[in-house]
Amino acid sequence: RNEKDGIRIGFSQAMVDDEWRQSMNNAMQLRASLYPNITLDISNANYDVQRQITQLRKFIADSVDIIIVSPIQSKPITPIVEEAMNSGIPVVLVDRKTDNEKYTVYVGADNIEVGRNAAKIIVSNIRDSLRVIEIKGLKGSSPAKERSLGFHQVIDKFGNIEFCGAIEGDWEKESVTESFREMLLRTGPVDYVFAHNDRMAKGAWEVARNLGIENNIKIIGVDGLNGPNGGIQLVKDGMLAATILYPTGGDEAIKTALGLLNNEDVPKNIILNTTVIDRFNAEIMQNQLNKINEHQTLLESQVSAIKRQEQLYYSQSNILKIILGF
Ligand code: FRU
Repeated sequence: RNEKDGIRIGFSQAMVDDEWRQSMNNAMQLRASLYPNITLDISNANYDVQRQITQLRKFIADSVDIIIVSPIQSKPITPIVEEAMNSGIPVVLVDRKTDNEKYTVYVGADNIEVGRNAAKIIVSNIRDSLRVIEIKGLKGSSPAKERSLGFHQVIDKFGNIEFCGAIEGDWEKESVTESFREMLLRTGPVDYVFAHNDRMAKGAWEVARNLGIENNIKIIGVDGLNGPNGGIQLVKDGMLAATILYPTGGDEAIKTALGLLNNEDVPKNIILNTTVIDRFNAEIMQNQLNKINEHQTLLESQVSAIKRQEQLYYSQSNILKIILGF
């Protein structure tokens, strides 16, 4: 590695339109800004697998020191990650995985556990019988597969839970509005909906609301973002019965990258904690996360104050050099 150039990290982000991804990027940038010798290049693949492949190829061609990627879908990205590894560049997968073990480290929550947590809420509220619908994330992306797997591991064991079917979404609410409406009209009353993220969960609530049945359906989402549009607020507002916290892992991904480059012992899978957020703990979660946000904002302003000082110092010392003639 050329020490003079510092460390170059190339990150291919699946897309950046939603707040969850934006908060991941912010956390990465904040962590990276603490180290003057790091350059973090964030590329937005914008849901386009071909584009993500091109971005990764470019990182390989540029011989970046480390690649971070959140693969839109597992299968098409698997060979490119292998290519990077074969060319000697370590690869950190964040949030979404590829299809095999040929990566350096995975950072993210256990999505099977996320699905199981959602199912446990349902089975712990079981009466004589329950009817359930699932709204899935994008087909071929690892969290959609694993959340569904974990969910079914639990609910399929209960004979008195009737699974009414699954809807193939793509993580965005527009993808499920029509199909969820149709399914509801076809199946009749259901008790629970497990949507693989809060954006689709909110879409499901809106459909139920339009049909005037929002009070009869309990909707569970995933992500639990803080902020006015986040899942925690949806729980507080009573739109969601619960959301499963899914941390972005942005900060940990950069820390992991640095650990690898410093030859530290880094575990192959860094599993972040997930937990159920419901009306009993939504308030507490929000307060805690607000506090963390305040600290982050403070840190950000300190980092930029230091950068301003540095610039001032360099420009003053340049003037001095000119005046003193060296
Ligand atoms: C954000 C997102 C989240 C979801 C995650 C799964 O783009 O759709 O809502 O939990 O990706 O990878």
